[in-house]
Amino acid sequence: MCGIVAYIGNKQAYPIIINGLRRLEYRGYDSAGVALHNREDGNMHVYKRKGKVQELVDFVKKKPIESTIGIGHTRWATHGKPDNINAHPHLSGSGRLAIIHNGIIENYDSIKKALIGEGHSFTSQTDTEVLIHLIEAIQERDNLNLEEAVRVALSQVVGAYAIVIMDKENPNQLIAARKASPLVIGIGDGEFFIASDATPIVEYTQKVVYLNDEEIAVVNRDGDLTLKTIANELKTPFVQQLEMNIEELEKGDYEYFMLKEIFEQPTSITSAMAGRINAGEGWIKVGGLMSTYDKIAAAKRFIIAACGTSWHAGLIGEYLFEELARIPVEVEYASEMRYRNPIIGTDDVIIALSQSGETADTMAALEMAKKKGATLYGIVNSVGSSIARITDAGSYIHAGPEIGVASTKAFTGQVTVLALMAINLGYERGRIPRSYYLQLISELERIPEKVQTILEKNDQIKFIAGEIKDISNALYLGRGYNFPVALEGALKLKEISYIHAEGYPAAEMKHGPIALIDENMPVIIIANNKSAHEKIVSNIQEVKARKGQVIAIVTEGDTVISEIADYVIEIPETDEPLSPLLSVIPLQLLSYHIALMRGCNVDQPRNLAKSVTVE
Ligand code: G6P
Repeated sequence: MCGIVAYIGNKQAYPIIINGLRRLEYRGYDSAGVALHNREDGNMHVYKRKGKVQELVDFVKKKPIESTIGIGHTRWATHGKPDNINAHPHLSGSGRLAIIHNGIIENYDSIKKALIGEGHSFTSQTDTEVLIHLIEAIQERDNLNLEEAVRVALSQVVGAYAIVIMDKENPNQLIAARKASPLVIGIGDGEFFIASDATPIVEYTQKVVYLNDEEIAVVNRDGDLTLKTIANELKTPFVQQLEMNIEELEKGDYEYFMLKEIFEQPTSITSAMAGRINAGEGWIKVGGLMSTYDKIAAAKRFIIAACGTSWHAGLIGEYLFEELARIPVEVEYASEMRYRNPIIGTDDVIIALSQSGETADTMAALEMAKKKGATLYGIVNSVGSSIARITDAGSYIHAGPEIGVASTKAFTGQVTVLALMAINLGYERGRIPRSYYLQLISELERIPEKVQTILEKNDQIKFIAGEIKDISNALYLGRGYNFPVALEGALKLKEISYIHAEGYPAAEMKHGPIALIDENMPVIIIANNKSAHEKIVSNIQEVKARKGQVIAIVTEGDTVISEIADYVIEIPETDEPLSPLLSVIPLQLLSYHIALMRGCNVDQPRNLAKSVTVE
């Protein structure tokens, strides 16, 4: 949450920063701001605006922007309401230093009180302004240079931060540091780019250094990069090559990233399988799994930790691992797991699912499990992210950048990798016969083309969306593998259309939600399970008997449900363990169209953000 972009070099900083902030808007869009240093007047120009980056751009028109150094920020508010004053950058007491910050300084209140006691006054309600005042106070009190003062100040703060600091009196240097919030430095030709992720950097350079926790980087206009820890230990920067291309970051012909990402799924699911499956030769090999095979095969239990949509993918993982590999699984909300005192030991494997690889709660749950000696496995989209780095082994889902705040292709990528792992383990552990193994492999390979046929029903799904767009509530029901899909369908609708929606196991309906059903309550039933077909038909009858409107996701040719449901969306037949990969697609499209018809910003839903680096 919160996006950071900074530049130093010989190009104009402002367009680079604005371009980068637009790329990082998925991390928050409560306000945006920049600080630029004008060489001619020697001043630091700070422009900040409540709202999206475009508000800032409109505000800055005709203002001086000449500068070859600058810092910029797009905010997701934590301390202090979203307004022009609380927008970053924030200035030190003298106005000499400017800072941008992603994270939370937890002990800011006590530091603030002490600084007020020393005569400081603050203009904003933010923890960030407190930090930059502290840095300047230390600099003046101890007569330190800026880098030293940053180091001393950071050793006093508790919490999470990714920061970049610019000094009006030294416009040839930027100082950056991180702890529990991501920061990456792009190394160009005599120039540096600093950002929360690589998306603002990739069009300028492929060479990057990911900062580790408690590292401070000093970049100078002369091309010098120095890396130290907060304990003042010199580090050698580990330069990596980016695997990302610029087209992946553009909307192309699509109106919204979310729609683009929904339509990318035949490709992204294929990428998740690439090199890991071969139906012709009849094998699945998941590299990360093989590298930790002994520990994983000996595991007493898998604990899947995740948040949001990734948690829903994790629930499907539970069904997959238990049914196919016969490994006991628990699925944990990472935010709960980290604060309980769960019984975790060296026989446990923790599987973290995360699109961003930066979610603070998931990261903290992993750190806790690591201390308890568990093996950590990551299923992550963002290459080089914190979760990818802390885990002992893992599998990238290779979905490419996901920019729409509501996750779509990352979900199917995660489920694909979980299915590959479960089938692989099930066969290696002798829990599924070769015939079923081969059947699942060939079926998995056909999933992308089946997803494509569902995407071709977009107009039909849009029509249904039009019929129900004015609803205030919706109930999503599913059984077995499709119960987590019901949760995910409900979450998608909530997130982007602000309609209240709940997901339930279909059979649980009679223990509560059935009381809500009347002619105004559409019930979306995922009814493509082979095993529980009659039971689902009964559930639909129960809804119809109470005048509920039924939208059913059914397997092609299901005449029984077609006759009783108000609307049906047919999807191709597949093996039940793989069915979520198909049944979720119409639900993504349904939410998308409903939200669009209600005038919502589908890519940037209110109050939400991606890469949730705060608790
Ligand atoms: C936020 C996003 C969701 C995402 C969740 C977990 O809430 O809006 O789309 O599912 O975080 O994020 P992760 O990056 O760990 O998958």
